[in-house]
Amino acid sequence: MNITVVGSGYVGLVTGVCLAHIGHTVICVDNNHEKIKRLKLGEVPIYEPGLEELLKKYLKNKRLSFTTSIADAAKRSTVIFIAVGTPSKKNGEADLTYVENVARDIARVMDSYKLIVEKSTVPADTGQRIKRTIAMNLSRKFRKGNEVTLDFDVASNPEFLREGSAVHDFMNPDRVVIGVESAKAERLLREMYAPLKPVMVVTDINSAELIKHASNSFLATKISFINAIAQVCDHVGADVLKVAEGMGFDKRIGRKFLDAGIGYGGSCFPKDVDAFIRLSEKNGYHFNLLKEVRNVNEEQTALFVRLIEDKLWIIKDKVIGVLGVAFKPNTDDMRNAPSIGIIEALQREGAKVKAYDPQAMPNAKKVFKNVTYCSDPYALAKGCDCLLLLTEWDEFRKLDFKKIKRVMKHAILFDGRNFYNDRNLKASGFEYYGVGRGMLERKRG
Ligand code: UGA
Repeated sequence: MNITVVGSGYVGLVTGVCLAHIGHTVICVDNNHEKIKRLKLGEVPIYEPGLEELLKKYLKNKRLSFTTSIADAAKRSTVIFIAVGTPSKKNGEADLTYVENVARDIARVMDSYKLIVEKSTVPADTGQRIKRTIAMNLSRKFRKGNEVTLDFDVASNPEFLREGSAVHDFMNPDRVVIGVESAKAERLLREMYAPLKPVMVVTDINSAELIKHASNSFLATKISFINAIAQVCDHVGADVLKVAEGMGFDKRIGRKFLDAGIGYGGSCFPKDVDAFIRLSEKNGYHFNLLKEVRNVNEEQTALFVRLIEDKLWIIKDKVIGVLGVAFKPNTDDMRNAPSIGIIEALQREGAKVKAYDPQAMPNAKKVFKNVTYCSDPYALAKGCDCLLLLTEWDEFRKLDFKKIKRVMKHAILFDGRNFYNDRNLKASGFEYYGVGRGMLERKRG
């Protein structure tokens, strides 16, 4: 199939490359000239395992191409994905300006049947608005009064891939959700995804849009739930790892997304939870459960900082080494990373912060002021009063803690992801603190 993907950000780029990988001819569009120039050369502007190899392969055999012209790409494709950003407005609502602009640009050049598919995460009802925008902006020859004479469809096809495992997730979806209004749109989308042999969930457009917001909000709820449990664990002297294990064996609950820590970050959960709260509110429902999910998440960062203050006493002039700053492993993405709130709070108290991250340091440099970046974890540990583990990169698993202890001022480790085995760390001579491991002094009342 001939497909255009508008927007070469995270979702758009992975979608474009993977659609080429399963046999389609794909044109990716972005209005950022510099980005398109680099992509044409086979350079991926983000760190995502496996993506660059596929990009280079399909650029070479010409199944994948890049342009800044929507008009040119749209004319040559039957299916057009909209995968542009939907940033948050100040009130949390999704800003759909880019979606509207793209819909208008597509409409202006349409002169044959097109299926326009929303891939961006959007609030329910956006599909209907895209439809209206397209109808209003079609060339005059396709409009007779209020009647539209050119056949087109709008569909919703939310994406569920995770950063860090995006290619794998796209190629092995748990399900493919399509929200459609015509048999033709359904047939085209089924045909497009057929090589993946996925479970297909076919719905109306509004339901498909809602599935995405509901899924991300539910996953965020799971994380906040276990983080709330972690707080109770700390006070009653229980271990959240054991609690999650015991809960997770129940197939109705499942162990995934029950990792307590410093809270969720990234470009999706914080934004989508906010947008879903706003969408519900606008439609007359006060989603207090989700508001509390957000509160618990924000509290996790503050609690972690309080734990550090409690153990180090005076923060001023203490040298703090941070292992990992990305919002999760296998990505260089710093958007809404929990490390930001933690590092900035410690700096406000006068801490001297050093950091090491396998991939995210170039992006971290754009976020933090006065952080010293180190070439490896051992250089990081030198002279530190304590270490914080904030991103659970696999390479941190293999660290030689005896060697690290020798170069630190004090061997204290705060593990924001419950990544390490506390016994091993203690055996290496470390004072170890995790999240929800029952290690705080018990408080009654
Ligand atoms: C999330 C969803 O998992 C994807 O299905 C969705 O497609 C994507 O958002 C999106 O909407 O585009 P992503 O943000 O890439 O994917 O990363 P996740 O693996 O979901 O992690 C999100 C955050 O939650 C990270 O900060 C992670 O450290 C944290 N997390 C995750 C926990 O704190 N505990 C857990 O148990 C799991």
